[in-house]
Amino acid sequence: MLKVVLAGLGVRGRHWAEVIARSQRAELLAFVDPSVEALARALSEFGERPAFATLEAALGALTDVDALVLANPPMRREGIVRLACALKLPMLIEKPLALDLGEALKLVQIAESAAVSLMVGLNFRYLPVTKALMRLLADDAVGRPEFARFTYERWRDGRRPDLNDYPLVMDHPMLWEQSIHHFDLMRFVYGQAPLRLQCQTWNPPWSMYAGDSNVSALIEFEGGMRVNYQGTWQGSWAAPAFEWRSDCAAGIITQRDQFGALFYARRDEAALRSVPLPPHERWISETAALFAAFLDHVLDGAPLQCSGRDHLMSLAMLEACVQSSAKGAGVLIGEVLPGGTERL
Ligand SMILES: NC(=O)c1ccc[n+]([C@@H]2O[C@H](COP(=O)([O-])OP(=O)(O)OC[C@H]3O[C@@H](n4cnc5c(N)ncnc54)[C@H](O)[C@@H]3O)[C@@H](O)[C@H]2O)c1
Repeated sequence: MLKVVLAGLGVRGRHWAEVIARSQRAELLAFVDPSVEALARALSEFGERPAFATLEAALGALTDVDALVLANPPMRREGIVRLACALKLPMLIEKPLALDLGEALKLVQIAESAAVSLMVGLNFRYLPVTKALMRLLADDAVGRPEFARFTYERWRDGRRPDLNDYPLVMDHPMLWEQSIHHFDLMRFVYGQAPLRLQCQTWNPPWSMYAGDSNVSALIEFEGGMRVNYQGTWQGSWAAPAFEWRSDCAAGIITQRDQFGALFYARRDEAALRSVPLPPHERWISETAALFAAFLDHVLDGAPLQCSGRDHLMSLAMLEACVQSSAKGAGVLIGEVLPGGTERL
């Protein structure tokens, strides 16, 4: 049993508490959150256990901790990462690792120089629909993908009590909180590295977010793949919409819900074919699969998935979007990577 301390008990932290509590291979040892209300709520939902306001206090008091799951907001994580590294505790940290590429690189370097594993919480990689989409591509069901359209339209009421509120004052809330999942999926599913992109970010007049909630980008990958991306958190209809359509040499693959609804068709077929998917509990089963990969790594020595270093390339795409929009010009990913064009 891996004894885990969970830090950050907000919206995402409570998914994590559910997942760790249900795991047969891990024990939810203790909770950490500076908010008294958040601690009290987690204790009443998931049962009594040691609870602390800071990770320093928890790690000072507990002697048998094996790993950390961090679901605190993505700001000021350096102290936590340094502490975990000093105690050689592997970490599973929620995306985005930081709100700045340079800061994220620093966290990765701290973990690497201490030889401590750092996994990032990219749960959408573990959805059955993502696996099925990758299988269609691997089986060559409709040939090689050449271009795609990825749209995510949502009216996200950032003032809802059941949602986190720090994105309301972020510089680029859509990019760093949401598009990070989408960009990571593109890299993961197509297996290509990003090459360059052209982007505009902006806010509609009614936006409740201080920073830009709209992102429109044309993204080119090294293998030639091009993706037209449009994402918004302030779409003017409460009903959410999602479509990720990949145009391939002999037909299309289209995903019409962020958690499922996968179809494909050959070019001359009149109707889409539906791809059967196993049952799925949103936010929980794919997070459990992500956690299983972490346990396989820490307990059984399996290779680390979703490493912090791999994550830097998705963060570089966000950074390139910010720079492209500010300059009004295309940006090569190599231009934004720390240390020039050398690969991460
Ligand atoms: N992977 C996903 O699908 C997914 C979904 C939602 C959120 N997230 C990510 O999870 C993280 C948290 O988001 P959220 O929606 O739960 O935010 P939230 O604001 O609802 O909760 C954050 C919690 O962390 C606590 N906290 C703040 N500083 C802390 C510290 N130093 N140590 C411990 N706890 C601390 C806060 O008091 C709060 O209770 C973010 O990185 C976010 O991007 C991921």
